[in-house]
Amino acid sequence: MSIRIFQTIAELRTALQTERMAGRSIGFVPTMGALHAGHARLIETSARECDITIVSVFVNPTQFNVQSDFDRYPRTLETDVSLSESAGAAIVFAPSDKEMYPEPLDAHVDVDRLTEHLCAAFRPGHFRGVATVVLKLLNIVQPARAYFGEKDAQQLAVIRRLVADLNVPVEISAVPTVREADGLAMSSRNRRLPAEERRIAPLLYEALLGVKKALLEGENDAQNAKKVAFSVLENAPIRVEYLEIVDSRDLQPVQKINVPVLIAIAAWLGDTRLIDNLTYTP
Ligand code: PAF
Repeated sequence: MSIRIFQTIAELRTALQTERMAGRSIGFVPTMGALHAGHARLIETSARECDITIVSVFVNPTQFNVQSDFDRYPRTLETDVSLSESAGAAIVFAPSDKEMYPEPLDAHVDVDRLTEHLCAAFRPGHFRGVATVVLKLLNIVQPARAYFGEKDAQQLAVIRRLVADLNVPVEISAVPTVREADGLAMSSRNRRLPAEERRIAPLLYEALLGVKKALLEGENDAQNAKKVAFSVLENAPIRVEYLEIVDSRDLQPVQKINVPVLIAIAAWLGDTRLIDNLTYTP
């Protein structure tokens, strides 16, 4: 059967009700579209593990803190539908803004401690927007499992916490970051990079690898380890927004590396902001 596309919550719920009554397990991949091989990996994983996979394509306005970033976000529904289908999805849910937000919300989800550092420090309101729309989507789809990429490590941590704290009946599955041949983490934003910026973009990953190598070789001071990354990036036209080593459990910065950590970076190449991360366990 070819892929089905629904634009309204009511139609989607009716279709999913039939699937549930037939005893089929539902896998869910929430996205903002502009799908790439990283998303394909999420969808393929869901299609392998669940009977039926739903992909949502919704550019969520409430998680953008800069209007121009929202306006410029690529919208490619037709190709998103074909990629979803090839990767094994059965349904694409592509609601309008009005369908998701018929009126401004009074209820929101805030996940406190995990949103003190990293991206949250530079994107006020972003994780409130993400957590709220993800909870809405989980309530609409009611999947057995939902799939998120490890590239958005802070988002993943926030969603795991939201699901645990609010007893949302879903299993959250993390899927490893998919990289281009030169190491650049796949992202919908990569397609915005002009050739010269695309050429230097893999330096972010190289910088993270430099930090990880230093830790593997016995460095256990966060400041010293971070210097390795800055030396990789020093002559490149890249503006580092943050480079942090945080405790993987609560995303709080650490001075000494004696717990599992996340090494995370956000940087601007021209007017494109990229993020990436690696983990390290001493
Ligand atoms: O990772 C994304 O694409 C978005 O933040 C998500 C999870 C679909 C919520 O809008």
